[in-house]
Amino acid sequence: MSNFVKVTIFSLFVIGVYTLFSVKYVPPIKPEEPPKEEAFDEGSMTVDEFVSLGEVVYNGKGACTLCHTPVGGRAPLLDNIATVASERIKGAGYKGSAKTAEEYIRESMVSPSAYVAAGFGVTGTNDKESPMPDVRTGSIGLNETEIKAVIAYLQRLGGAEVTVVTPPQAQEQNAMEGKQ
Ligand code: HEC
Repeated sequence: MSNFVKVTIFSLFVIGVYTLFSVKYVPPIKPEEPPKEEAFDEGSMTVDEFVSLGEVVYNGKGACTLCHTPVGGRAPLLDNIATVASERIKGAGYKGSAKTAEEYIRESMVSPSAYVAAGFGVTGTNDKESPMPDVRTGSIGLNETEIKAVIAYLQRLGGAEVTVVTPPQAQEQNAMEGKQ
């Protein structure tokens, strides 16, 4: 036999062994699972977990820190919004419909132009129009759980009581009031 034939036979043998080996012993690679839309079971979350979720949303999906940062000053800082909110709704120029700090934070998020913090409006609109998007829309697209979690986070951040009612608390309250 020529060397060429020997080498060819040997090569085929080696390829055959590897093929057998890979078919028999190498576990198939599982395709990666598609990223899941995060599902929250609001009903089983504690207030602390709710606050943590809010922090994650605030710094991530919510994109809040794009504008609400100390650098650049495009938007007011929100460290003390829990307290600031109470002052806003008492102010003479306030035309929105919030009655509580919690409602003010929510209104600011879903209806930003209801009240525009002085000096932060879209240029030329005399602070009538907010440059902030409704956070339920567009690429931010927060759902109701996420909105409530962000409010809870901002209340905790400002050292205020978390007034956002999560369903377990709502259930407790209803139970106390004798409702189903
Ligand atoms: C594109 C920039 C932008 C993004 C993104 C943004 N904001 Fe704002 N936000 C603003 C500006 C500008 C103002 C001030 C004008 C106004 O009152 O609407 C504001 C105002 C607010 C206020 C009222 C502040 C005050 O002092 O009265 C709250 C609360 C608030 N934003 C929360 C949020 C939260 C929470 C997020 C993320 C889910 C967010 N914002 C994302 C620009 C932004």
